[in-house]
Amino acid sequence: MSTKTSADSGSSKFLPVEPFDIIVFGGSGDLALRKLMPALYHRWQDQQIPATSKIIGSARTKMSSEEYRQLVRDKFEEFYPEDKLAEETWNAFAEHIHYVGVDALDQKSDDWDDLKDLLDGSDEKLRIYYLALPPGIYGQVSANVDANGLKTDRTRIVLEKPIGSDLESAREVNDSVGEVFDEEKIFRIDHYLGKETVQNLLILRFANSLLEPVWNSRHIDHVQITVAETVAAGERASYYDKAGALRDMVQNHLLQLLCLVAMEPPIDLEADSVRAEKIKVLKSLRKIDSGTVRADTVRGQYKEGSVKGKPQKGYAEEVGHPTDTETFTALKVHIDNWRWSETPFYLRTGKCMSGRWSEIVIQFKSVDHLMLAPESGRVQPSRLIIRLQPDEGVKLMLMTKDPGPGGMRLRYVPLNLSYAETFAPRYPDAYERLLMAVVRNNLGLFMHRDEVEAAWRWVDTILGAWSRDDVPVHLYTAGTDGPVQASVLLDRDGREWFDGA
Ligand code: BG6
Repeated sequence: MSTKTSADSGSSKFLPVEPFDIIVFGGSGDLALRKLMPALYHRWQDQQIPATSKIIGSARTKMSSEEYRQLVRDKFEEFYPEDKLAEETWNAFAEHIHYVGVDALDQKSDDWDDLKDLLDGSDEKLRIYYLALPPGIYGQVSANVDANGLKTDRTRIVLEKPIGSDLESAREVNDSVGEVFDEEKIFRIDHYLGKETVQNLLILRFANSLLEPVWNSRHIDHVQITVAETVAAGERASYYDKAGALRDMVQNHLLQLLCLVAMEPPIDLEADSVRAEKIKVLKSLRKIDSGTVRADTVRGQYKEGSVKGKPQKGYAEEVGHPTDTETFTALKVHIDNWRWSETPFYLRTGKCMSGRWSEIVIQFKSVDHLMLAPESGRVQPSRLIIRLQPDEGVKLMLMTKDPGPGGMRLRYVPLNLSYAETFAPRYPDAYERLLMAVVRNNLGLFMHRDEVEAAWRWVDTILGAWSRDDVPVHLYTAGTDGPVQASVLLDRDGREWFDGA
């Protein structure tokens, strides 16, 4: 693992893509300006985007393309102050940015003609609609695109999460978009699937002869998946208050991670093969219902405190009224299948925690027999830590003998693969990779409707039990790692959370 690899490892090669036109509805919103436009700029900068492509922002507000370019630039500089824009590259990129003011909910609006003019003569070219909009209107916007003659045979559509807020609403969204677009033209984003380290999970598991044979209940004691954030609900509070951590993070990101850790080897890496295995995992999740919900789940909400030295209001104060929306949740999850029946998966995620880290910890079982004298020190079972962000890497914790004289003294030390030290300094972020994956028609990095619906089916049972059984929301001080009940969840099983700090 210590072998130094340089950029020639392949991490700096970009596969060329065909020319495309991308239309971002919700083009003046936070997602478009914070993530999508910067992502497209970076792909442009690396010369991956062909010069005949068009990048079209669209929203209800009227503004000129020139004003929109300035907005994109200002936001880029605000969000990425370290990332100095190269003037010449920016100017060339900006020439490809256009803006059209369209009320995408108004089918009869004349504004659609402006979009048509811009796309005129490009029916053969790949066309992508990116809906950076609330999911409740995905169907209507799709229908309006179609009714205005703006859907070609080569059109794909990208939907942001959340797809619905429960199984029923997810089905409605999927059905309504499905009336206009075939499933293989629909790209449902879970941006975690675009993260470098998440993609690496498959390789780590299935390309290493050391790991796959021990990847099961016989050798693994338990698995922990943590996505901890320092950010508050803040400006997103009005959305967040209707969602909460279970809907916002667990239904999608954490369950996708769980699927990649737990699934059986797919027959190949084609989208359908990988999705089929993920769906089997989702279907094997043991229901958490009234009988188990109090024992196996924890709900938390941050109260006033300080995060990384900055004072932080309590969540209820932020939203301006008392609320029982959870900003933290921890769950003990069982997968009822051959491979995992004895191995619990503990999931936790929260806002306003002590640090920002996302990590998967595979805790192996102890060795069967120890011939060492107790004074040698505590023997700890091996642990594999997959760090998704920040400072991405993979660590394997092993027992070794402390070198030198003094008898047999043991030490628990890491074999450490740090991405920053091993690979090229910059690789594409999740949105860069996913946008190019849409162009390259790589559906494997997106969620099929069956996956989304299977995840909701499981989450809905918990949501139902939470409200039926009045499961309490425990307060935790902002800047800490959730309520004490989250520690009790593991403590009860003789385990503890591994601190990702
Ligand atoms: C989003 C959630 O999907 O993911 C946000 O809606 C959350 O609430 C974000 O903050 C976390 O993403 P990342 O990439 O910063 O871990």
